[in-house]
Amino acid sequence: MIQWEDRFRVGVDIIDIQHITLLSLYNRLQSSINGGECEEALRRTAKDLIDYAKKPLVEEETLLKRYSVTGLEEHLAEHQEFKDYVLGLYVQLSFADEYLLAGEVLEFLEKWLEEHIGQSDKTQAEQLRALGIR
Ligand SMILES: [Fe+2]
Repeated sequence: MIQWEDRFRVGVDIIDIQHITLLSLYNRLQSSINGGECEEALRRTAKDLIDYAKKPLVEEETLLKRYSVTGLEEHLAEHQEFKDYVLGLYVQLSFADEYLLAGEVLEFLEKWLEEHIGQSDKTQAEQLRALGIR
């Protein structure tokens, strides 16, 4: 379980709420694996991550584009990597070992949390905050 902590907070409500949702997907997957329901949990997580890539991630992009934040291109490239990864999950689900794949998904999300949310999102959100967006 990863608890939501202040160090993950970027200070723009709509973005923080999305990140809390993502963290709950992580925690749900982890507890399902521990409960031995790996395959079904992975399928559900893959679907929810694709939904996340289609809506919350795109909403964040719209906000960053609207205010033309510095570092936008790199930021969008990181989002694209996220989208590519989660879209590839369905393919992987059909042949990969589900426990190995679940472990990989958890690692991917941990990295995303530390490196994208903890660094990129924070940096870009600072610019939004400077413009008075909360
Ligand atoms: Fe982002």
